[in-house]
Amino acid sequence: MSKLAIHGGDPVRTKPFPEWPRPTSELKDAIISTLENEGWGVGSKAISRFEERFADFHDAKYCISTSSGTTALWVALKAAGVKAGDEVIVPPYTFIATASAVLMANAVPIFVDIDENTFNIDPDLIEDAITEKTKVIMPVHIAGNPADMDRILSIGKKHNISIIEDAAQAHGAEWYGTKVGAHGIGGIFSFQTSKNMSAGEGGAIVSNDETFYDICFSYHNCGRTKEGAFYEHQFLGGNFRLNAMASSMLIPQIDTVQDDMILRDKNRSKLDAALGQIEGISINGAYDGTTRQANHIYLTRYNADHFNGISREMFYKAMQAEGVYTYMGYTPLYREKLFVTDGKEYPWLKDYDFGSMKMPVTERLADKEAVWLKQNHLLGNEKDTQDIIDAFDKVTSTMRNNPELFKD
Ligand SMILES: Cc1ncc(COP(=O)(O)O)c(C=O)c1O
Repeated sequence: MSKLAIHGGDPVRTKPFPEWPRPTSELKDAIISTLENEGWGVGSKAISRFEERFADFHDAKYCISTSSGTTALWVALKAAGVKAGDEVIVPPYTFIATASAVLMANAVPIFVDIDENTFNIDPDLIEDAITEKTKVIMPVHIAGNPADMDRILSIGKKHNISIIEDAAQAHGAEWYGTKVGAHGIGGIFSFQTSKNMSAGEGGAIVSNDETFYDICFSYHNCGRTKEGAFYEHQFLGGNFRLNAMASSMLIPQIDTVQDDMILRDKNRSKLDAALGQIEGISINGAYDGTTRQANHIYLTRYNADHFNGISREMFYKAMQAEGVYTYMGYTPLYREKLFVTDGKEYPWLKDYDFGSMKMPVTERLADKEAVWLKQNHLLGNEKDTQDIIDAFDKVTSTMRNNPELFKD
């Protein structure tokens, strides 16, 4: 095996992976056309067109576009009837918004550890976390890989608790052939820059429940109702609407994301087949009901025991030097300072001690094992994908055979 780049050898690649987001001529035309021909904000046809198309794409009756995934989460929680002091079950291995939106809705995030095989909330642990205050269970389809929806939906049904899917990373993902988002009362998406569909910022809520949809509409639109007057305000909502330029950028992406998915599927299969052969690297699993993944992040696990105890951080450094940017991703959310709140501001949190929480699987995966590749790494050609494999092979075999070369 040739010398590693961190030891002065030639890197596997120096070329960047495909650019993301992509400023295509289609997107430019869509923005200009809206700018010149349509309303720019509330009431614009460009917005309702996107909402209709996205609902259809996600096998849902209704869609409301929002200014971000975070505002979509807040609106959905409020519309599900979450009140001050209610509890919402979430995983701790996700983007902060999953839990911070719960706090912003004056509720309490109750963390449930994840399943090491999928990085998703562990369905076996959910029921133990349910109390009389539990109002919502919010699984996250992390990395675009669906959570175990059948188990979660049946727990929700048994305990009469609503399910809201955080599908921020899961555009196009499917559970038993039906797109994610509207399996429970509703679900949310993000169109922030890094996402597989991007308008720079933006979000959406999808649902099959008309009442929930109507209340979401009100919360995201200053408390207005569909039939009410412009200056009539029923709920304490806000302006959480998506603007028309962003909506028009998203319409063509409903088609292109499906082409991208074919490429992501192909490159992911090639990576899984090759990396799955490396002892000490585990490819990410999926539940039986998963018929399609969105492949937003390519996740694997690194087990230092198979590499002479050499740390994951050293593995990242070596991979980065080879031109393949692997990195760590999330830390367990309950460690974040924002959970140490002022008792005057959030009195309902006074009995919850986030600081002393310990979730063994989340901590092992976040602190020691998780290896992330950004989604644009799955949008390359065969040679790009082969470079990722070659870099994994080169680094892991050197770690296995020549540990003396590595000093942390
Ligand atoms: C799982 C998850 N939930 C929620 C969000 C929030 O979305 P946004 O950044 O659009 O507010 C994100 C994305 O950033 C996310 O990855």
